Amino acid sequence: MSAAKLSEGRATFNVPPTVLVGAGASQEAATQVKRLGAERVLLVTDAFLEQTGLAARLGGQLEQAGIGVRVFSDVQPDPTVANVGAGLRAFREARADCLVALGGGSPIDAAKAIGILTQNPEPLGQYAGYHRVPRRGAPVIAIPTTAGTGSEATKVAVITDTERGVKMMILDQHLLPAAALVDYELSLSMPPALTAHVGIDTLTHGIEAYVSRKANALTDPLALSCIELCARHLATAYREPHNRAARAGMALAACQGGMAFANSSVCLVHGMSRPIGAYFHLPHGLSNAVLLPAVTRFSLDGATERYAAIARVMGLAGAGDSATAAARQLADGLAALNAQLAVPALRDCQGMERARFEQLLARMAEDALASGSPQNNPLVPTPAQLRELYLAAW
Ligand SMILES: NC(=O)c1ccc[n+]([C@@H]2O[C@H](COP(=O)([O-])OP(=O)(O)OC[C@H]3O[C@@H](n4cnc5c(N)ncnc54)[C@H](O)[C@@H]3O)[C@@H](O)[C@H]2O)c1
Ligand SMILES: [Zn+2]
Repeated sequence: MSAAKLSEGRATFNVPPTVLVGAGASQEAATQVKRLGAERVLLVTDAFLEQTGLAARLGGQLEQAGIGVRVFSDVQPDPTVANVGAGLRAFREARADCLVALGGGSPIDAAKAIGILTQNPEPLGQYAGYHRVPRRGAPVIAIPTTAGTGSEATKVAVITDTERGVKMMILDQHLLPAAALVDYELSLSMPPALTAHVGIDTLTHGIEAYVSRKANALTDPLALSCIELCARHLATAYREPHNRAARAGMALAACQGGMAFANSSVCLVHGMSRPIGAYFHLPHGLSNAVLLPAVTRFSLDGATERYAAIARVMGLAGAGDSATAAARQLADGLAALNAQLAVPALRDCQGMERARFEQLLARMAEDALASGSPQNNPLVPTPAQLRELYLAAW
């Protein structure tokens, strides 16, 4: 729904009530915990961030402010229902009243899911889908260290059900963090490949939020700003990990991308990406990156003007180019960006095997359609077209 069409429909917009952005924002964690009236936190993170000492530093700051801290670092990349269950037990044992999530999308999503289970019965799977969480849970303060999923700003959590082999998407207002502390300094340590993959995830959020059938007047400016920031800063952050301006730009892009897609929607790239993640354990950003050029090319005719606007914002087309030409230049430009960031083709990703890929094609296409995301795409593919698109990314 464009601004012009607002007279014909409604749009809902949910973001965290407090978002702090900038160098050192994470040092406000204790102030935010106290503002919420909380006394004991479960600090949810992963093994890597515990090992680097970052979690201990944050925990120390909280303790100095008189806040009780228990660290839970058993969150794996692409968190599972079992990770969330273990975190919930730790929360109860610690008699915590607040969650602080430190990490990429994985610890943040795990903390959000633990949060809702503090006030809503298990199993978590019953809340998969849209607006199914009855009660607000313990508050979450989200501190992203990647840039990124934008999970710090979204009402979404993605948790893998390993028994069914499905990445469950839970979307509900009750998953919104109480505060997001977006401190780009925490992302300075990301190695180039991780920077590239999570950065393309951010760009995909901006693009999909903008072309989605659910795009609206509140999400459009955020989506375009996210895209523009990625075009300006992602390659620099990849080449120069310590470039502060580039890291600051990408941290802001990730947060804006999250605000945009959670209130518009993701589309076909994310719909197709989740089954690859579930079956082949490719990281979320990488599985989006390998799909983005082919899926964009497929979708161009469904929203030519919108794709052209994206191309112009990214500097891939000029005012003199027709919409059709500009849209095509976007698809070419996204393939070139992948090459620049050394994103491999799907066949070259670790764990990919052609025979198994072919064997799972039909099921992945079904799972993608069942997730609901492809239905928001400018063009909705048939199952046969989905299988072709998977093969095109191979
Ligand atoms: N909730 C949402 O709105 C949303 C949106 C998109 C994706 N997701 C989900 O988020 C998860 C992916 O999150 P992610 O891409 O941020 O990765 P991640 O959290 O899985 O982290 C990936 C790896 O990077 C490491 N890492 C994190 N910060 C680092 C840093 N500063 N320096 C060096 N290494 C660092 C981690 O330890 C981990 O090994 C997926 O499960 C995906 O489905 C959620
Ligand atoms: Zn994503």
